[in-house]
Amino acid sequence: MTSHSISRRGVLRGASAAMGSMLLPVTAQVWGATSARFAIGDSDFLLDGQRLQIRCGEMHFARVPREYWTHRLKAIKAMGLNTVCAYLFWNYHEWREGKYDWQGQRDAAEFCRLAQAEGLWVILRPGPYACAEWEMGGLPWWLLKSPGDSFLRTRDAAYMTPAKRWMKEVGRALGAQQITKGGPILMVQVENEYGFFGEDLDYMRDMRQGLLDAGFDVPLFQCNPTNAVAKTHMKELFSVANFGSDPAAGFKVLDQVQKGPRMCGEYYSGWFDTWGAPHRRGSAAGAVADIQTMLKANGSFSLYMAHGGTTFGLWGGCDRPFRPDTTSYDYDAPISEAGWTGEKFHAYRDGMKPYLMAGETLPPPPPQNPLIAIAPFALKQSASVSSALPADAIKAVSPEPIERYDISRGLVSYRVTLPAGPAGTLEAAKVRDLAWVYVDGKEVGTLDTRYRRFKVDLPARSRPVTLEILLYTIARVNFGVEIHDRKGLHGPVRFAGQPLENWEIRAIDFDADGVLPPLTWKTGRAKGPAFWRGGFDAQQTGDTFLDMSGWGQGVVWINGRCLGRYWSIGPTQTMYLPGPWIKRGRNEVVVLDLTGPRSARIAGLKAPILDKLRPELDLVRPPNNDKPALDGVKPVHEGEFQNGAATQDVKFAQSASGRQVCLESLDAFDGKQFAAVAELALLGPDGKTLNQSNWTIAYVSSEERSKEDGSALNAINGQATDFWHSAYSGKAPHPVHPHRLIIDLGKTDTVAGMRYTPRQGEDGVTGRIRHYRVYVGEQLVKPG
Ligand code: GLA
Repeated sequence: MTSHSISRRGVLRGASAAMGSMLLPVTAQVWGATSARFAIGDSDFLLDGQRLQIRCGEMHFARVPREYWTHRLKAIKAMGLNTVCAYLFWNYHEWREGKYDWQGQRDAAEFCRLAQAEGLWVILRPGPYACAEWEMGGLPWWLLKSPGDSFLRTRDAAYMTPAKRWMKEVGRALGAQQITKGGPILMVQVENEYGFFGEDLDYMRDMRQGLLDAGFDVPLFQCNPTNAVAKTHMKELFSVANFGSDPAAGFKVLDQVQKGPRMCGEYYSGWFDTWGAPHRRGSAAGAVADIQTMLKANGSFSLYMAHGGTTFGLWGGCDRPFRPDTTSYDYDAPISEAGWTGEKFHAYRDGMKPYLMAGETLPPPPPQNPLIAIAPFALKQSASVSSALPADAIKAVSPEPIERYDISRGLVSYRVTLPAGPAGTLEAAKVRDLAWVYVDGKEVGTLDTRYRRFKVDLPARSRPVTLEILLYTIARVNFGVEIHDRKGLHGPVRFAGQPLENWEIRAIDFDADGVLPPLTWKTGRAKGPAFWRGGFDAQQTGDTFLDMSGWGQGVVWINGRCLGRYWSIGPTQTMYLPGPWIKRGRNEVVVLDLTGPRSARIAGLKAPILDKLRPELDLVRPPNNDKPALDGVKPVHEGEFQNGAATQDVKFAQSASGRQVCLESLDAFDGKQFAAVAELALLGPDGKTLNQSNWTIAYVSSEERSKEDGSALNAINGQATDFWHSAYSGKAPHPVHPHRLIIDLGKTDTVAGMRYTPRQGEDGVTGRIRHYRVYVGEQLVKPG
């Protein structure tokens, strides 16, 4: 699968109904003040009255070492771009409420100045919500101290008040960087792909007003996936369309809503990776063809990403329902994670060369930064996590999400005394994200939010014992209403059906930048999850890729700076370590490993390993011998989908209540034996999609796991780019229709319909289901 051929997360709904009725020719003035220098005309962007075709590329300064900002900006310029697009991540600058940080790596104004020095314009995207595979989509975790699961990205004061304060702060920090004040910022984006999320255009008007009140006087715009442009367009904001293929369709929708230049706000050069799923690539040939189509049509574009970089520290985000993003944000972009300008870069550069503006020439690409290898070194000292926990505990009758205790992220230990008694099952209401369970220090099981595995069996006890649950937070979801992602152990926690009370809670809060607790080092292997320490001597500095393939799962620090998370399941096995963060002489490396290394050694390689999956190293998956129990269950709906790639809403013959929903394929449009689904959402009686944060796959008849990632989870992760596919590799015969996918909603709900997105791609692609049935029930699978 190449990501270039499919647009992001697919289609929201049949766009055709909304189009046509929305023709709103507007004049440029309503989009923001037109300055003497930059304006949006009827068919062109105008710079000093001259036509400007914006050839933009995205790069997030938070994902690139500050020492290399200029290097990457030079590469962007040399690739043929004249503008750089930058998100601001609110939580990066305000991790603790009211405390803003714009220093060092966070110095956005300096980034703008450096861009300007390289002759690049800037498009600023200050949020408040960004998405971007960034922790909580850029929103600060402390917003979750407010109650409720639907107030973020709405006009609710619990969100709007701090969001407006943030926009004011952005105006204070960056207002002077606008072109109207002599700086490089041409335009500012309001919110981000709101059309994927909500319907309340007054919310967008308030967001726009927030930026105006903050002193932004350049044109303001909004971006939406092609299929959500029409429904989200408003006359006060200039619209751009986001897509990874079919520029003609994107530009057509823009022409239908406004009179103005056509621009793609995000053109996908590649795609991001999540832990446990195959590495993604984007084809250069397809992208270059689309870029040329846009340039020929007098269009403008922004590449997402021109240079992805690395999600250093603990800033990685998470796809819903729970698929955390890898630390590498290489994105298969034309400028690689370490800033290399290889074949792909040159394909883009050569593709853009014929379309430069009169008088423009391209500078040569900047030379590659020095690269070093580091001989394997051992980490010989360790300190157990339990020895690093603070002495003082929070006391709680029943555990609540960690945000209530003012813990932002990290490791949290929960202890309670369990009386003598027979064996039984321990069960929490919810566990975000992973946890290890110990009885008197002995591990008895793990809890894992990926499978909603919130239960573990405990042995009989002849005397009272200490039950400890050690929890590790990975990342807050960054997409959909599921961004209301509170971490920790959610009570009640029951044993044998009875709530356990009087807990002691101790946390190592990693805070904004991965602060290490005080550690007492001992030589050798500590018991259980531990921090490890070692180091290497460097004669010279240079970029390198730390090979973490001998380790389990955790976090790495270099000279006290948090480099990021690693996880042996892949696909990334190395961590990009930028040369400027290495010292000549001794360098200290600290590793937190929760599952324990197989070999406590690290080497520095001269090339990354981005595509090696090792599912056998994962935490145990719950056994799955479950079978569907559909005999005698009457389908709530039977029907035939439309052929093609479009998302389809189906209203069921009758609405039904239940905790589980089964989609059963009866045949496929291509007449073959396989089934595939890009996305499956469910509609409530109000016609709105149900919140998917508690969903899991209860059963799937088969899923392709080796030739490609066709896992069932792909059908509910919000992305139309990937899909569930019935098995086709290994020994024949392969499964035939009916194929069944059963979703567990996490609670009983009323379901009135579904939104089905077929596997994307060209006409006739395998797996598009034709006839189907849907079942709804409390329990559609029988435990095996
Ligand atoms: C969307 C968002 C971006 C990013 C990309 C996927 O289009 O706007 O922030 O999440 O998808 O990488």
